[in-house]
Amino acid sequence: MLKDFRILVVEDDSLMREFLEETLRRAKYEVESVGSGPEGLSCIRNGSYDLILTDIKMAEVGGMEILVEASRQLPDCKVIMMTAYGTIENAVEAMKLGAFDYLTKPFSADAIEVVVKRAWDYHSLLLENRRLKSELVDRYSFRNVIGKTPKMQEIFDLVTTVAPTKSTVLITGGSGTGKELIAKAIHYHSDRKEAPFVKVNCPALPETLIESELFGHTKGAFTGAVSDKTGRFEEANSGTVLLDEISEMSSGVQAKLLRVLQEKEFQRLGSGETIPTDVRVVATTNRDLRRAIKKGTFREDLYYRLNVVRIHLPPLRERKADIPLLVNHFLEKYSSKNDKKIAGVSETVLEAFYSYHWPGNVRELENFVERAVVLSKEEKELLELEDFPPELVTFRAEGGEEVVKPGQSLMEIEKVLILKTLEAYRGNRSRTAKVLGISTRTLRNKLAEYGLKKDSYYQPKLSI
Ligand SMILES: Nc1ncnc2c1ncn2[C@@H]1O[C@H](COP(=O)(O)OP(=O)(O)OP(=O)(O)O)[C@@H](O)[C@H]1O
Ligand SMILES: [Mg+2]
Repeated sequence: MLKDFRILVVEDDSLMREFLEETLRRAKYEVESVGSGPEGLSCIRNGSYDLILTDIKMAEVGGMEILVEASRQLPDCKVIMMTAYGTIENAVEAMKLGAFDYLTKPFSADAIEVVVKRAWDYHSLLLENRRLKSELVDRYSFRNVIGKTPKMQEIFDLVTTVAPTKSTVLITGGSGTGKELIAKAIHYHSDRKEAPFVKVNCPALPETLIESELFGHTKGAFTGAVSDKTGRFEEANSGTVLLDEISEMSSGVQAKLLRVLQEKEFQRLGSGETIPTDVRVVATTNRDLRRAIKKGTFREDLYYRLNVVRIHLPPLRERKADIPLLVNHFLEKYSSKNDKKIAGVSETVLEAFYSYHWPGNVRELENFVERAVVLSKEEKELLELEDFPPELVTFRAEGGEEVVKPGQSLMEIEKVLILKTLEAYRGNRSRTAKVLGISTRTLRNKLAEYGLKKDSYYQPKLSI
């Protein structure tokens, strides 16, 4: 099969032209060739090529003009110059003007193949890079941030409105609610999307290092600073910096950050030079910053600077209608990753998902689904309750109230546990017994002890 790589040969020496054509066709490239400069120009203006091989010295129109026209008309096209011995200065000149490479005549078929292969590799890399970049933009478009509940729709509207502006954004919400995902969506919806998105994980950085991590340092600024270092703010110039878990920042660094936000400039550690910066700051926290201000651990002025636009991600239990969509999204993701054909989860699982408290929010749901998919048997199409961790089976009474309270007797707790498990497993005694680690006979005896008949303990209910 021919490679998807079109080559144009411009060469006035017919023997040379035939030799090139034949060599390149043998290597499975798509080749077109012309015997003069003017013909070459006309091809460039009317066609599309990925690579041009041109002789430098030709009557009327030479290789240099071909190069200049190609860079004007076909910006992605590479040009390789062919030069006779003794005219190498021209080739060097051509390289300065942006030629990809040059070949000195006479050359072997192998030499051509090596140079052309390099251009082809380069071209493939460029395409792959573009594909990945557009995938990235796609990944953080709202197609992959799931949410149809009004609360999430409101957040998407807010992201769309605020993304193109320069405003600082503070994203709050519990662990695993999607704060980082929203931060990325902001970046990839802004006109900064081609520039870097740089994440700084504040709690992971020791107090002594965070300042140099953010602003960089000069050689000798402190013991161990053996060379100059570029900080994250410099790295992210024209892009976005995500300050993850900002409440964990020391007061000294908070003061410096405030200055960056106010003056749009900073200094590297150990340097007097002021560096201007154009960076959009997005910060996240799962702490209550107002409380931190009251406690004196967070600067109030910094809070107001960060809190220009606030996006709060509600816990998953407050947007349960999104659960089925999220489940499908993660099922698709992990099924294709693991080569499985899982189509969905059973209704019982969905019921359990609806009544579960989700302390770890969307991340916990994602982990549950990933684990279930990975561990599921080949032929399985629907995931059942037994595929999920036992804590999913609701141990909470209605309204999320704790079932187990101090002062209860073991008998009472045992009864609630058995009934709740039976409810979750839709009255299936053998599964219930298995999960509880008792025999079905013991289960039957316990139920008899409570005076319960089979159909009195299972009523499907959905607390949506
Ligand atoms: N609305 C959503 N749609 C799809 N995936 C989501 C959504 N929200 C969160 N996720 C996924 O859940 C996981 C956790 O999200 P993310 O890291 O953004 O949360 P976080 O709030 O930053 O968590 P933490 O507080 O633990 O840092 C990620 O894999 C993310 O892709
Ligand atoms: Mg996070």
